[in-house]
Amino acid sequence: MASTGRDKVILAYSGGLDTSVMVPWIQEKYNLDVIAFTVDLGQGDDLERIRKKALRTGAVDAVTIDAKNLFVDYFVFPALMAGAVYESKYPLATALGRPLIAKLMVDAARRYGAKAVAHGCTGKGNDQVRFDVTFQTLAPDLKIIAPVREWKMNRPEALEYAAKHGIEVEATKESPYSLDLNLYGRSCEAGVLEDPWDEPPADAYGWTIAAENAPNSAQYVTIDFEAGKPVALDGVKMDGAPLILKLNEIGGAHGVGRIDHVENRLVGIKSREVYEAPAGVILHQAHQELETLCLSKQAARFKTHVAQEYADIIYNGLWFSAFHQDLFAFVASNQRYVTGQVRVKLFKGKSTVVGRKSEFSLYSKKLATYEHGDQFDHDAAKGFIRIWGLGQQTQATLQLLKGGKGFDLPGLSGPKEG
Ligand code: ARG
Repeated sequence: MASTGRDKVILAYSGGLDTSVMVPWIQEKYNLDVIAFTVDLGQGDDLERIRKKALRTGAVDAVTIDAKNLFVDYFVFPALMAGAVYESKYPLATALGRPLIAKLMVDAARRYGAKAVAHGCTGKGNDQVRFDVTFQTLAPDLKIIAPVREWKMNRPEALEYAAKHGIEVEATKESPYSLDLNLYGRSCEAGVLEDPWDEPPADAYGWTIAAENAPNSAQYVTIDFEAGKPVALDGVKMDGAPLILKLNEIGGAHGVGRIDHVENRLVGIKSREVYEAPAGVILHQAHQELETLCLSKQAARFKTHVAQEYADIIYNGLWFSAFHQDLFAFVASNQRYVTGQVRVKLFKGKSTVVGRKSEFSLYSKKLATYEHGDQFDHDAAKGFIRIWGLGQQTQATLQLLKGGKGFDLPGLSGPKEG
């Protein structure tokens, strides 16, 4: 790396127009040497091409890091174990990627002795929050530069700036949407998706086929979990990242994993986003279903609250918090018996769990059966019900039905007599 004696900045670099324009822009505006930093979270880009482009664009150095396994083992799987799905829809792929990218940028800043970090997020999204909060938590001394928040260039202006600075703009047609990808999901927003009434057009999707074009015969997949983590697909032991990539492929081919979500952003606006997360959808479904066997009623109930808090922590950029550590301690303990197998049927855009089993299953056929071998104590039911209903019976006699009153729901007039 050639030394210019200037201070350095680590720039989260994607190779696209905005982050490319940032390379000369930051040099000019802030008099800093730019080190382009690209993290591979399985987004499927050609990283060597991106690295070379960064150097041609004027970066003093360009680094790429393969963080796919880190991403899955330390971010995606904890979220899956926790059941974290934002607003019951979004499996959080983008939101999970940001704190990891930011953490790796901080590490790089330390290695290079950089004084600043920079990213290409806009001023109205969640991603800026996730980046900035992570930087300010892990490295409060680093200056944060977010050029898109500052420069107020529109697309034609950015193109003009690029032309002036000799930055190549890809000949391939740029997407009419704003996209973010990693192996856990594809996020697509803006363009015609901004009208929540309009059905997303076919070109909004990249990973899944339309349900109507999916094969006419179903496919079954089996997923093995150990203590809440997926460990095998169709009986084959696999690491997390390849398991997710494979399941994306299988699910996508059946049109599974499309999510159309009008979500509540942290910055106070509603936005319409189209997600694709075949593996995310299937794994959450399968995992939750295994929990129906392995968790007690109270543990499962309580966990739904934890899942919601966990999703909020991720969505709102608070990954590196003590509260997150506390919640994960609960999740890890809560998941210790969530081991077993789930069978999922994929057909025409839908995934359905059709079977589940576990060595720790709390399901007892002897207690559940209506057939021969029933061990449930039917006589005990009678006494149990008398005591269970005693409070309500007492209240009815002394309050609700006293003096021959009928039972009404406030505000609803029931059927009138006579
Ligand atoms: N709305 C999602 C989130 O906040 C995804 C944002 C990703 N960016 C995009 N250009 N679609 O996590």
